[in-house]
Amino acid sequence: MEKLVSLSRRRGFIFPSSEIYGGLSSCWDYGPLGVELKRNVKQAWWQAVVQKRDDMMGLDTSILMHPQVWAASGHLEGFSDPLVECKGCHLRWRVDELGDGNCPSCGGALTEPRQFNLMFKTSMGPVEDEASVVYLRPETAQGIFVNFQNIVNTTRKKLPFGVAQIGKAFRNEITTGNFIFRSREFEQMEIEYFVKPGADKEWFDYWLKERFSWYVNLGIKKENLRLREHGKEELAHYARACSDIDYLFPMGWSELEGIANRGNFDLAQHAKSSNESMTYFDEEEKEHFIPYIIEPSAGVDRSVLAFLVDAYDEELDKDAIRVVLRLHPALAPIKAAILPLSKREPLIKMAKELYSDLSQYWMISYDDTQSIGRRYRRQDEVGTPFCITVDFESLEDKQITIRERNSMKQIRVPIDKLSSVLVAKLNGEPFEVLPNGGSYRLGF
Ligand code: GAP
Repeated sequence: MEKLVSLSRRRGFIFPSSEIYGGLSSCWDYGPLGVELKRNVKQAWWQAVVQKRDDMMGLDTSILMHPQVWAASGHLEGFSDPLVECKGCHLRWRVDELGDGNCPSCGGALTEPRQFNLMFKTSMGPVEDEASVVYLRPETAQGIFVNFQNIVNTTRKKLPFGVAQIGKAFRNEITTGNFIFRSREFEQMEIEYFVKPGADKEWFDYWLKERFSWYVNLGIKKENLRLREHGKEELAHYARACSDIDYLFPMGWSELEGIANRGNFDLAQHAKSSNESMTYFDEEEKEHFIPYIIEPSAGVDRSVLAFLVDAYDEELDKDAIRVVLRLHPALAPIKAAILPLSKREPLIKMAKELYSDLSQYWMISYDDTQSIGRRYRRQDEVGTPFCITVDFESLEDKQITIRERNSMKQIRVPIDKLSSVLVAKLNGEPFEVLPNGGSYRLGF
C-alpha cells in the first residue's frame, strides 16, 4: 500500500485533499491521471450495466433530498455506530476499537456507549433551525427508490428492469484509513434491480455472478476475489440477504461491493411515508404489487484501489527494477504515448501530427524529454499500454514503432494503419510479430 500511495502522489493519481493546509482527514483529490482512471472505471461500469443492456436505465439524482427520505429509509434511526467519548480529551471511539476500557489516546475515562449517526447534517436556506435540516446522502440508492413511479411512467419498462446511478455519497465514518478504501466523501455505482416477488433469489444469484465477472473481465486476478455471504446478525436493517465481493487488499480481505436482496422494504417504507403508491401493475397477471429489489452496490474509489493494487508489479529488467502498472487497456489513463526519438524539427512535426490525430479518439500523451529508456519507464509506471516512437526512418518509410507495455515487444507499423492497430489492441485482439520481424498480423 505504501508503494502505491507514493506512486499515486508522485505521478498525479491521488493527492490528499487540501494538502497545502495539512490535508483533510479521509478526503482525497484525484490528479490528472487519477481522474482518467476513475472516469474509465465508471465508463466501463456504465457500459456493462446500462449501455449494453436493454433492461437497464441510468439516473442522476440530487445529493440533497427531502429529510423525510432518511426517516422512511431507516437511516435517521438505524444508520449509526455505538461510540464512547473520552471524558478528558473528548475523542470518540468505536467500542470494538477499545483495549483496556480507557481512552486509547490519553488513557482517560470513557462515557457509556451511545449511538452516533453517520450522516452529515447541514441546513438549507438562510435560517439555521430544525426545520431547515437536510443531510448529505449516505447512499445514492434512495434517489432511485423515490423515482420509481417516474421511471415506470416515463419508460413503460416491464419487470424485471434496473436503474443505475453513479454519484457521491458522504458518511461521517469513525474509522477511516487505508488510503481511499474508506473515506468520508466517496463515490458509489449502484444498481437497483426491480423484480417480481418470488424471482428475487434467482436474480440475486444472477447479479452475484455478473458483478464478479465484471472485475475479472477488467483484469483482476480471480484468486484475489471471493464471495462472502453475510450471517443473519450482520445484515443491514433493510436486507433479506447480502453477499459481498471481497478483494484481497494489502490490509487483507475487505469488501469491494455488496449485493443485497432488499425485498420490498424501501418501496413499502416510502409508500407509507409519502402516501404515494409504489406498486407496479402486472398486465399479464392483472395484479398490483410492490416489486422486490436486488441491489449490487459498488464503490468507485474502492474499485480504483483494487484495480491499482492488482495491476501494480515490479520486475527485474536488465539490472534495474521495472515498475509496471498492468492495467487493462480500457482502464489505463493514457492509451498511448508518442515519443519522438529526437527533438529535430521534422520528427517533432510528424510526432505532433500523430498526437493530434490520435487524441481525437483517445487520451494520448506526448513526451520528447529525456532518454527513450526513461520515457518508457515513466509510461510503464502509469500503465500506458502502448508507446509509439517516431524516428528518422519514419520520415522515409512512413512507419512508426509500437512498443507494448507488458511484453515490451516492439513492432513496426505503417502510420496509416496505426489507428486500426490501436483499436484492435485496445479491444484485446492478439498482437503478434511475424517471423520476418518487420510485419504484424491482425484481422483487418
Ligand atoms: N446502498 C447500499 C449501500 O450503500 P454499503 O455496503 O454501505 O451499501 C456500498 O456501500 C459500497 O460503497 C461498498 O461496498 C463500498 O464499495 C462503498 N463504500 C461504502 N462506504 C464507503 C466509504 N466510507 N469509503 C469508500 N467507499 C465506501
